[in-house]
Amino acid sequence: MPEIGTQVWLDGKLVPSEQATVHVLTHTLHYGYGVFEGIRSYEGERGAGSLFRLREHLQRLFDSAKILKLEIPFSAEALSAACRQVLRANGLKEGYLRPLVFLGHGKMGLGAFANPVRVAIAGWVWGAYLGDDGMRDGIRAKVSSFTRIHPNSNMARGKIVGQYVNSILAKREAVDGGYDECILLDHQGWIAEGSGENIFVVREGKILTPPLSSPILAGVTRDTIIRLAKDEGYELHQCNVPRDELYTSDEVFLTGTAAEVTPVREVDDRPVGTGRPGAVTRRLQKLYRDVVRGKEPRYADWLTPIEGGAGQ
Ligand SMILES: Cc1ncc(COP(=O)(O)O)c(C=O)c1O
Repeated sequence: MPEIGTQVWLDGKLVPSEQATVHVLTHTLHYGYGVFEGIRSYEGERGAGSLFRLREHLQRLFDSAKILKLEIPFSAEALSAACRQVLRANGLKEGYLRPLVFLGHGKMGLGAFANPVRVAIAGWVWGAYLGDDGMRDGIRAKVSSFTRIHPNSNMARGKIVGQYVNSILAKREAVDGGYDECILLDHQGWIAEGSGENIFVVREGKILTPPLSSPILAGVTRDTIIRLAKDEGYELHQCNVPRDELYTSDEVFLTGTAAEVTPVREVDDRPVGTGRPGAVTRRLQKLYRDVVRGKEPRYADWLTPIEGGAGQ
């Protein structure tokens, strides 16, 4: 079980987590009309904690809210300070933060747009999302019978609460079938992403990943890996990837704030490559681990220290 912090930031101030509660008629609880983020902090070499790519996560939170026409009643600077405050208040250097923007209670019904927009930020300790074994040896994945959300029905660019029912249906089907994770195809049959991760495929040293024109979340980790892979000299293409490419590729890996870089060792009961995490995955996995902990000064700009500066 994750170790939940005892202090939660709610609508502008820290409160003990048992007081961070909502009315049962909270609008988002019924209809899923809200947005959220997942952000990790890491402890660096000198024992100081930093949030990884905080700016980009907050930008996505505001973009997601704009898509839903939800006006967040705080500035990005205020939420940035709040994220750091939550980590400090809970003594978390290596932690996971969950900012959530939701429509509170007031009126019910789909048109209750005047209900208050509320913001919560909770934090906890979260180890390897798909398990330590998965991180080391790779996970077993299954292509889902559920199609990733359609661009005319849902807004894939937003990290929108209700959209996660699609991910959970697919995840549950995979887990109930004995797999660790699912891979969803889009409405045209191309590979889209995992339930909470973007996907990369490696064949003959070239790296492929679905383009942002497909209905995937524009992952911050995806963007990080694209940059790292290019800086390392890999040839990388953002292009449509068919399902059978998963069966014939040398390596497959998933990326996400929670999942970090997780190798996939099997898809649909077929071993990926040798059935062991491959060299490209290993190299990018290690580099990512070093970058998030500030061991690669080239990417120091991606780190926001928890201590010091504004928002103390
Ligand atoms: C559906 C989905 N795809 C991809 C990702 C990976 O995004 P990020 O790397 O920004 O965490 C996530 C996680 O937020 C997700 O929920």
